[in-house]
Amino acid sequence: MATLWGGRFTKDTDGQVYAFNASIGFDKKLYRQDIEGSIAHVVMLAKQGILTSKERDVLIKGLTGIREDVEAGRLVIDEKYEDIHSFVEANLIERVGEPGKKLHTGRSRNDQVALDMRLYTRGQVLSTDSLLKELMCVILDVMEANVETYMPGFTHLQKAQPTTLAHHYGAYFEMFKRDRQRLRDIHDRMNYCPLGAGALAGTTYPLDRGYTASLLGFEGPTLNSMDSVSDRDYLIEFLSALSIIMMHLSRFCEEIIIWNSNEYQFVEIDDAYSTGSSIMPQKKNPDIAELVRGKTGRVYGALMSLLTTMKGLPLAYNKDMQEDKEMAFDAMETVQNCLVLFTGMLRTMGFKRERMADSAMKGFTNATDAADYLVGKGVPFRDAHGIIGRLVLYCIDKGCAIDALSLEELQEISDKFGPDIYDAISLKSCVEKRLTVGAPGKEAMQEVIRFSREYLEEDWQPRDWQLPNEK
Ligand code: ARG
Repeated sequence: MATLWGGRFTKDTDGQVYAFNASIGFDKKLYRQDIEGSIAHVVMLAKQGILTSKERDVLIKGLTGIREDVEAGRLVIDEKYEDIHSFVEANLIERVGEPGKKLHTGRSRNDQVALDMRLYTRGQVLSTDSLLKELMCVILDVMEANVETYMPGFTHLQKAQPTTLAHHYGAYFEMFKRDRQRLRDIHDRMNYCPLGAGALAGTTYPLDRGYTASLLGFEGPTLNSMDSVSDRDYLIEFLSALSIIMMHLSRFCEEIIIWNSNEYQFVEIDDAYSTGSSIMPQKKNPDIAELVRGKTGRVYGALMSLLTTMKGLPLAYNKDMQEDKEMAFDAMETVQNCLVLFTGMLRTMGFKRERMADSAMKGFTNATDAADYLVGKGVPFRDAHGIIGRLVLYCIDKGCAIDALSLEELQEISDKFGPDIYDAISLKSCVEKRLTVGAPGKEAMQEVIRFSREYLEEDWQPRDWQLPNEK
């Protein structure tokens, strides 16, 4: 047992209580953020004359040494300490002696952990954003190469109207673009520094909070010290954005699983991204897509868990808030793994274009276009709808497609049909005539692709943080 607060106690903490209370098992992940935050704090204390420049240099050297030793594997984070903050401070005192005891001047673990978690989350927001961008590059490449790859578009999982692979992928491009916009919003809203809030009511030392904030790459200091130590909104927002990313990935996975099924056979998942069956030799399963779909549950779980943890908490810090970490860490790691694996699977997946086009030609996907053809000949749309409905019924009975009927058969149902009907309802013209913004027609699609390429070229990646002594 190694704590920072023995003075007021007359008895040792019960062993089980200590273990239940300790967080080092999971907050050791924050060692880097804890050290960076401490260095910024030290630099600020010296600037304010609270530490001498000699003390500052000794402390920075000690803190940097701890980080380097941990990273090189020379120093193992010892779980006898209560949390990462205690570990770093105790280790610093061991290394540098007396000056180490001044590190915690004007600081509480409450604002310290609020800072560490915010720094960690900010880094995760940025790395998630990079992975989303990589995924979007792959999606856009597929779009560029497939503006004329025809496939059926569905509603209710029933064939509805023909579209293209570029158009279908484009829908996901838009979803992931909104995901990136959400991350950016979250980044900008969370980018204020809680350090200097103390336990809850600020401190009597003349801290320069704006300076600490700027050293750590924040916009400025947070403006209410009670809120600073008890705000986890940014984490809830991030978990919410991660949940939406997983929802998008999961929908995409579901489609890939369907496209990969024996009945569809639209895609060929690369062998490197599939697995087999221990009993059925013929099997090649879409496990990665299924796992990504499955892991969506645990990310939603992390969001629900934190919302529930926070819902009844009075101001300011409460130990309940220590529960913000484990599931959030798991969710962040899960989403990043899913993005990496999913992007790899998508990059290597092949398409069976003939089967897709063939499927698009079946199932009366050109029925709307046949009705539109009659509208072009002066028939009101509602009447045209009824005529084509009867035509479809006739075709179902005969077991053929609309364009397989002879002109005489067509004219028996409506004398408005002429020989130009076949071209009007061919797969190609059904797609190519759809030229409204956002539609699958080649020119409309290419316009969106150009716009999307420009979007990917403009970059958003603010700096995370820089070590104050490396400036
Ligand atoms: N392990 C704690 C947490 O994660 C650190 C803050 C401890 N503060 C306190 N007053 N006990 O929330």
